[in-house]
Amino acid sequence: MRTIEQTAALREELASLRARGEIGFVPTMGNLHQGHLQLVREAKRRARHVVASIFVNPLQFGPEEDLDKYPRTLAADQEALTAEGVSLLFTPSVETLYPVPLEQQTRVSVPGISSLYCGASRPGHFDGVATVVCKLFNIVQPDIAVFGRKDYQQLAVIRRMVGDLAMPVEILGVDTVREQDGLAMSSRNQYLRPEERALAPGLYTTLRGGAERIRAGERDYRQLAADLRTQLDSMGFRSDYIEVVDADTLLSPGPEARCLAILAAAWLGAARLIDNVEIPLAAAGGSSQEESSR
Ligand code: PAF
Repeated sequence: MRTIEQTAALREELASLRARGEIGFVPTMGNLHQGHLQLVREAKRRARHVVASIFVNPLQFGPEEDLDKYPRTLAADQEALTAEGVSLLFTPSVETLYPVPLEQQTRVSVPGISSLYCGASRPGHFDGVATVVCKLFNIVQPDIAVFGRKDYQQLAVIRRMVGDLAMPVEILGVDTVREQDGLAMSSRNQYLRPEERALAPGLYTTLRGGAERIRAGERDYRQLAADLRTQLDSMGFRSDYIEVVDADTLLSPGPEARCLAILAAAWLGAARLIDNVEIPLAAAGGSSQEESSR
């Protein structure tokens, strides 16, 4: 695997790879864990060559957020990506990706969806994500790009951007990889103190409990979300949001919804955890045709 910091050098290498087959792309912020490596494996399954990037994107962090302390572990990441058979690793500096001051940087904004849930708590976050992903797509020009379903809203924002701007790249979502006790893998889990780490799987347990209630026929989603929030807070979380949404639109589910998702973010100490569960409505009493048409 070659690690490349400059755009021109990367483009040169990409040209010769592209001549020999499809390119799958896995953009990351580094500090890789099994969740990221699962994205790489999916890219490898679907494309001849895999290109990864590591860039801690300042544009998607708020002023009070963890940009400075976000874990940076390049040597270990390079070793892991090499072992997974990645061809190229792009590690641009902030100046390479954003040669003009950040406040003058052209931005990509996906309206509506970007201001809900995580976007409401982290204003500008999804503009930062859309901008960097758009720029990375323009540089790498992948055939396929792979993202985790743990970042459910991010995946929806990226799909919308790609659709709205007719970007010639196929977006693949990959299931969340979890620790044995159910906690979704995340670089930010290392902010948890031992007693918080012990509580953390409660987020997923709570979401699964909510999914179970929907499967059992509960349809008052507002009440359900309120109950789950109370449950989380009584376990020691500081819930940010918890919402039952239509998985296709991320809006409140109407009668036409074919699949629901429960999305949540909650703080435990210094760590803001996010997680989600999907509930195909066929499993909650709809027809099997509904389920198979997704
Ligand atoms: O999910 C992430 O790691 C980041 O948001 C991404 C997609 C690499 C953009 O910086």
